Amino acid sequence: MILLDGKKTSADLKVEIAASVKQLKEQGKKTPHLAAILVGTDGASMTYVNAKVKACELVGFNSTLIDLPEETSEETLLQAIENLNTNNDIDGFIVQLPLPKHIDEQKVLMAINPDKDVDGFHPTNVGRMTLELPSFLPATPFGILELLERYNVETSGKQVVVIGRSHIVGRPMSILMSQKRKAGDATVTVAHSRTKNLKELTLQADIIVAALGIPEFLTGDMVKDGVTIIDVGITRIDDSSKKSGYRLAGDVHFESVAPKSAYITPVPGGVGPMTIAMLMKNTLLACERKA
Ligand code: GUN
Repeated sequence: MILLDGKKTSADLKVEIAASVKQLKEQGKKTPHLAAILVGTDGASMTYVNAKVKACELVGFNSTLIDLPEETSEETLLQAIENLNTNNDIDGFIVQLPLPKHIDEQKVLMAINPDKDVDGFHPTNVGRMTLELPSFLPATPFGILELLERYNVETSGKQVVVIGRSHIVGRPMSILMSQKRKAGDATVTVAHSRTKNLKELTLQADIIVAALGIPEFLTGDMVKDGVTIIDVGITRIDDSSKKSGYRLAGDVHFESVAPKSAYITPVPGGVGPMTIAMLMKNTLLACERKA
């Protein structure tokens, strides 16, 4: 069993990105600048956004955090987005999800200038990705592709089962892995909450991407020997024995699945850190494209 070490791989990536930034600065070019909008005080979202800001510092980007209260109106949020759309110093920005219930998420994502949409969530970028045109790839699927590539995991002709059909992970992952590309050329099945014969499917799978958001859902009896496991889940579970009061669990029951796996991502330290590194990569790309 080989651990797909997202912590190490993302650190390598950030070193590479920092070198590119240093070069840009030496050439007198613009320093990449990422902005993030956070609405409300959701604990996990605050953690993620802070990690993104910290990563910017590490690679030498400028960053701006726009922290808005929970009760922010949709109109105010749309105005904040328009300000970032028209601010020439901002190369890319994200609106951290989920948003409070009174705000229409689709409307918000549509308001982002596709050229600055480093999350790759705008319909223009989703469409361009689907048609294999240059676009921003959503950070989590992009990070998974990068991890598979760097560990030389063979995907061509393999049976992939993606569990989950979210717009952020499952759906784009399934599209990307079926395309002609490195870490692609796979035969992909998308499973979801209405799938009837899930265990039959996962037992056939060479690669399983678990992105359904149910902690420790995928168990050892559901996978074949030699499988590659990508665990996208990260859920806080109450644990009074921990100082923080919680522990982090993936969508995969690691103890029973790991012994049967050829490759597996740990949680934490697998997909999560890759997502942040790819957001940095997309921001660098946005800055270079603009130049
Ligand atoms: N919430 C969970 N994942 C993501 C992500 O990749 N981007 C944003 N903006 N919000 C998220």
